[in-house]
Amino acid sequence: MKKILTGSAAAMLLMSGAALADGKAIYDSVCSACHNPAVAPTMKSPGLGDKAAWAPRIAKGMDALYASGINGVPGTAMVAKGGNPSISDDDVKAAVDYMVSQSK
Ligand code: HEC
Repeated sequence: MKKILTGSAAAMLLMSGAALADGKAIYDSVCSACHNPAVAPTMKSPGLGDKAAWAPRIAKGMDALYASGINGVPGTAMVAKGGNPSISDDDVKAAVDYMVSQSK
């Protein structure tokens, strides 16, 4: 089991290069405050790895999810860039890619 996980993580890094690693770092530092599975139900946010919560969102297409990440979702706790304007649009997209890759 351990061997398989290690192998697939290495393969994912090889396939997607630095983007995945950056996305995880952005997720960890900015997005996990609300998208961490432990707090997601309280925050009413789709939690990392929650396939049921992400499926209908993924169905909207990545461009819609990037837009939600960059601009926020009006009327919810999902504010533009997770409330951290210092990160770039590409950082937000990498974090969205990371969350989606872990949640389908
Ligand atoms: C302050 C809490 C909070 C933070 C921080 C936060 N989110 Fe969210 N996020 C939410 C909530 C709540 C929702 C659900 C909004 C809704 O009802 O559609 C959400 C939904 C989303 C969605 C799905 C939007 C859709 O159109 O379905 C994406 C993508 C997303 N967040 C990305 C991010 C990224 C990337 C970050 C970090 C840069 C981040 N979020 C940080 C609270 C947060």
